[in-house]
Amino acid sequence: MNTMTTLEPFPERIYVTRPVFPTIDEVTEKLQDIWQSKWLTNNGPQHTMLERELTEFLRVPCLSLFNNGTIALMVACQSLRLSGEVITTPFTFAATPHVLSWNNITPIFCDIDADTMNIDADKIESMITPHTTAILAVHVFGTPCNVDKIQDVADRYGLKVVYDAAHAFGVEIDGRGIGTFGDISMFSFHATKLYHTLEGGALAMNDVNVKQRIDLLKNFGIKNEEEVVMPGINGKLDEIRAAIGRIMLGYVEGERLKRRRLHAVYDEELAGVDGLTLMPKTAADVKLNWQYYVVRVDEKIFGRSRDYVYDELRNYNVFARKYFHPLCSEFTCYRQLNSSAVANLPTANAVAGQVLSLPMYGALAEDDVRKICALIKSFRR
Ligand SMILES: Cc1ncc(COP(=O)(O)O)c(C=O)c1O
Repeated sequence: MNTMTTLEPFPERIYVTRPVFPTIDEVTEKLQDIWQSKWLTNNGPQHTMLERELTEFLRVPCLSLFNNGTIALMVACQSLRLSGEVITTPFTFAATPHVLSWNNITPIFCDIDADTMNIDADKIESMITPHTTAILAVHVFGTPCNVDKIQDVADRYGLKVVYDAAHAFGVEIDGRGIGTFGDISMFSFHATKLYHTLEGGALAMNDVNVKQRIDLLKNFGIKNEEEVVMPGINGKLDEIRAAIGRIMLGYVEGERLKRRRLHAVYDEELAGVDGLTLMPKTAADVKLNWQYYVVRVDEKIFGRSRDYVYDELRNYNVFARKYFHPLCSEFTCYRQLNSSAVANLPTANAVAGQVLSLPMYGALAEDDVRKICALIKSFRR
């Protein structure tokens, strides 16, 4: 514990995030509707309504609901018939490369851009081989990728573009839903996300034919009582979680604005602290969702490592997280790949050694954010 400060540990643990809970009355009311409908899953009324409501909310032409984001992304790869190699980022959650492996596709890790922490669009071209079929980019922490450059490379080489938009619910570029870029985008509705259905997810796409194929794939490939037309899987979202999703749509903008305010407090308190890089600032035409607050600690300038800050915060009952450390390219299942070599991923390795996700959720008090910042500043050497 740092003895230089008079700051006391928080009386209760402060986690990196806390799920948004609807009121129990709202849930009870929706459960009564479901009990009356006698419909629990398989495209029931709650599912149909949520799909329509989310299509509108996310400003996308077509959307298909799923029981989680990982299965959704696996189905996205299947629907586009991806194979061979897919270029992706190592700076992401494990699910991103795993869905490629589950599709018998080799993930090819491309380095990231130091500012946005997203795949470096300028480096993608050098990773393309005759086996490449697609680019799987991630809007990490909700910061949009360089969608124009990625599409340009994809068009020149005839590649598909899939976005893992698990962090990017409600993000827009110049009024355009983030899910309209590329061929397919995946959203995760996991309980820890800004918007959630407990577990759940969706794919957004521009092409209605792709939606039809995806709807079949997520329901075992069943076309009708007599015909199964492709080897599908069970990716369906049930009625209870769809109903919760409909309730949560009423919470998302309020939660987004609370987090935007907390971002401003973090920025105010941490701006100008030597050795700390704050969340990347995006272009004025980007609408962010403020879901996460991430800093980077440069040990040489700050005088303490990211791990030191992480450990010390725990001593004060603050449970920050090292997202995304280790890189996916460091996992035992991927580190033998040529593209996992540190020499291929210098920026990703440097960033992974510095990142720290700080507590961020609407119910977090502004004073607590100020105290977390005071603690971090007190750790400097
Ligand atoms: C970047 C990213 N991709 C994929 C997923 C997987 O989504 P899900 O948990 O809904 O399966 C997550 C997190 O949950 C994620 O953070």
